[in-house]
Amino acid sequence: RENLRIVGGKVLSIEKAPWQVSLQVRGIHICAGSILSPSVIVTAAHCVWSLRGKHSQIRAGSNYWKRGGQVARIRKITEHPMYNVITYQNDIAILHLSTKLRFGRTTYSIQLASKAPIKGSIVTVSGWGATHDSRTIRSPYLLQANLIMISPQSCRASGYAKKNKAISNGMICAVGNNRDACQGDSGGPLVGDGKLVGIISWGIGCARKDYPGVYTNVAYYRNWILSESYLEDHLDPL
Ligand code: ARG
Repeated sequence: RENLRIVGGKVLSIEKAPWQVSLQVRGIHICAGSILSPSVIVTAAHCVWSLRGKHSQIRAGSNYWKRGGQVARIRKITEHPMYNVITYQNDIAILHLSTKLRFGRTTYSIQLASKAPIKGSIVTVSGWGATHDSRTIRSPYLLQANLIMISPQSCRASGYAKKNKAISNGMICAVGNNRDACQGDSGGPLVGDGKLVGIISWGIGCARKDYPGVYTNVAYYRNWILSESYLEDHLDPL
């Protein structure tokens, strides 16, 4: 039986995740992000290289990445200065929008966590990404899955050890029973206790037993995020 879901997830209404946005190039969903203020979005650094062109936009406030809600253009992209394309260290970036999003039931900001969730906590991942390991097809509507946090130690001791993939302090890991984020979910939120705890970053395949989902540790980058958001956008304090 197939999982026609994030991987192993269920349909999520945007009202329950009003911070979720789709990042698009020429109207095609490529990654996701989270709203921090009416003109500030946080996403993964590995998502932004393709957003630098003229034809990029974000869509907020819709269950569907293709239609509905509101669209905004990107004014400025700030990648973490230490982002490493090979190791995916510091996989975080801030987008400043050209226009402010109108906030309401379907479009709203999320607060940054100040502590990474402890192992065993339940967290939620969401996105329009692939619904199966071997698929590149995107989900037309927003999906979510509940996951469980694991410790950095057990993440390091997973299949990533044999593959020489480093789990740095700027990364946290979560697992699910046949549930995971997948291609196209990147940049999107991992939420714990109503706060943004992670940014979907990388993994090997999706929902594979030995390979936990790896997320940028939002608490670890909190000060960088705050300073970058304030810098250009002090009229919209978070
Ligand atoms: N890097 C992927 C993307 O660009 C997301 C990978 C998440 N994978 C995972 N197994 N949790 O969409």
